[in-house]
Amino acid sequence: MMSGTSMDGVDAVIARFPENKVDIIGSTWSAYPETLKTRLNALVEPDWRGSLADIQDLDHQVGQFHAAIAAELISRTGVHPHAIGYHGQTIHHQPDAACPNSWQLGDPNLIVAATGVTTICDWRRRDIALGGQGAPLTPVFHARIFREQRPVGVLNLGGIANLTVIPPDPGAPVIGFDCGPANTLIDLWSRQHDRGDYDADGAWAASGNVNDTLLQRLRADPYFQRPPPKSTGREHFHRQWLSQRLHGLEVPAEDVQATLTELTAVTIVDALESWAPDVRKIHLCGGGAYNPYLVERLQSLGGSRHWQSTALAGIPPDKVEAIAFAWFASQTIDQRPLPLASITGARSDGVAGAIYTP
Ligand SMILES: Nc1ncnc2c1ncn2[C@@H]1O[C@H](COP(=O)(O)OP(=O)(O)O)[C@@H](O)[C@H]1O
Ligand SMILES: [Mg+2]
Repeated sequence: MMSGTSMDGVDAVIARFPENKVDIIGSTWSAYPETLKTRLNALVEPDWRGSLADIQDLDHQVGQFHAAIAAELISRTGVHPHAIGYHGQTIHHQPDAACPNSWQLGDPNLIVAATGVTTICDWRRRDIALGGQGAPLTPVFHARIFREQRPVGVLNLGGIANLTVIPPDPGAPVIGFDCGPANTLIDLWSRQHDRGDYDADGAWAASGNVNDTLLQRLRADPYFQRPPPKSTGREHFHRQWLSQRLHGLEVPAEDVQATLTELTAVTIVDALESWAPDVRKIHLCGGGAYNPYLVERLQSLGGSRHWQSTALAGIPPDKVEAIAFAWFASQTIDQRPLPLASITGARSDGVAGAIYTP
């Protein structure tokens, strides 16, 4: 089960992994209830002023929400899984802080209690303890599915965009990093203007014009130039980050949306040029793969690069990350380390995930 920085809801799958293949048995998606979504979104803004009781309450609600989804999927498919790989809701990710950490909310005990299934969570902190970024993790899984197509890229367009680069040489390490925001600022701007939780099909962005001054201000953030390993989140790209860069500019709201969408596309293409010059083919997954305007901007800025949805490889784009956590759970059960060091900068690969048994 996966819920990313978009805080839109929870993707869940039951999958089997016969010989490097992915066999999806059942899947579901549930939107977070409106009040829970609003509270979670408020919690990740730097001006949040709440109490420990709020966090405790959200920890319970997020856990309970996942527990209900898991129980429903198990009962509907009639399949009792060996384990549940459960990401939890990231509320703070600070791998570069003096006390590095990554914090996911949602009590896993509630999932065990509701399903009777071993539940594995806390995926990021082993890697951070080993000196890594703790993110992104899914490049390990992307590489497993797509390595035969090397050189190839996999781009997950969630709240944050993360890119996996599978290099031409089979002996060369896979790299993966967060390029920057994918949907998080687009969603934020949409919500701020009462246009819903996201810009459906990118229609609002498509109705505006890119503002070059604003785009330059946004692109000037040093994160974009920083070499991998690197990861980021909403503790960096948040409402204030955007409002500071809008300061003193008169830009129509639809032009801001067009510019935010352009920022996502242009920083991804920049990242490919800088860190993955051999990659000409990129598989797209995550919710942003359903935004035709964003995909069009990638195609237009990306020159001869070829972008295609993972749906063409038989994997629904919105389920890739959830499937990855199911596979990670199988690795934890088998005590296999995730080969993350080349991606996250950790000193070594570790067996990730904390196991909660029934
Ligand atoms: N039809 C669509 N048009 C535009 N954007 C979409 C569409 N469908 C999904 N999205 C975007 O995808 C996001 C959810 O993507 P997801 O992969 O679940 O991200 P995360 O992993 O951060 O939760 C939504 O918040 C929205 O921005
Ligand atoms: Mg999501």
